[in-house]
Amino acid sequence: MNSNSNIPTHVSIIMDGNGRWAKQKGKERIYGHAAGVESVRACVEAAAESGVEYLSLFAFSEENWGRPDSEVSGLMSLMMQTIQNEIPSLKEKGVKFKVLGNLERLSPELRSAISKAEADTEPAEGMAPLLTLIIFLSYSGKWDILQAAKKMALEYSGNLQKMESLGVDDFDRFLVTHGIPDPDLVIRTSGEKRISNYLLWQSAYSEFYSVDALWPDFGKENFRLALEEYGKRDRRYGKVK
Ligand code: IPE
Ligand code: IPE
Ligand code: MG
Repeated sequence: MNSNSNIPTHVSIIMDGNGRWAKQKGKERIYGHAAGVESVRACVEAAAESGVEYLSLFAFSEENWGRPDSEVSGLMSLMMQTIQNEIPSLKEKGVKFKVLGNLERLSPELRSAISKAEADTEPAEGMAPLLTLIIFLSYSGKWDILQAAKKMALEYSGNLQKMESLGVDDFDRFLVTHGIPDPDLVIRTSGEKRISNYLLWQSAYSEFYSVDALWPDFGKENFRLALEEYGKRDRRYGKVK
């Protein structure tokens, strides 16, 4: 937990609006996705400078597989290329890289690039990373809850009495986000005000922040403004203060 409670420990961003950004410029949608990589770089820097410990980014949802093949393959190539280009600098900065989602749907090449990037950015024994950067890829909240339920059922199939006694925290351990604190702040760009099947379980008490800027236009200053707004929120968790 961050010692300054006004600074969120975990900031999560639903990066939205790349297609609209490209359209405004009379370009193909993929041009907007490529431009969005610059915003990722800016947010990684802003998060590290602000003392945020976890930055997670919703890059591709399970539903996004239903987009035209050309866009899906363009996004997967961009992901591969970005991992290859950015890992050395993330490693140098002390940023730990992690990808979460239904990775079985990815190509073996992308899966192995991800494993290599995760291993390369693993901090040395006993060292804490400056920042943990999590990319949610082929992820959806309902998928995560379902895979967790299946894993739990399998583990306790021989001991239903024990399963009966489990609580909310016990379920947490089966989610792909196990070990990562729930997001304190969830930012969505492009003015949309919906969760779009993102971290359904984990965002139960997250503060939401919607900003009109389209993702490729979202920079360090936008990130700081979101943190400033978060600092003014009164988190009550259902209690009376
Ligand atoms: C977000 O931008 C990136 C992904 C969902 C992959 P969009 O591609 O959703 O852009 P808009 O919302 O159509 O403008
Ligand atoms: C949410 O954006 C998914 C990601 C940002 C990866 P979408 O553009 O897919 O969401 P909807 O369709 O507007 O709800
Ligand atoms: Mg969108």
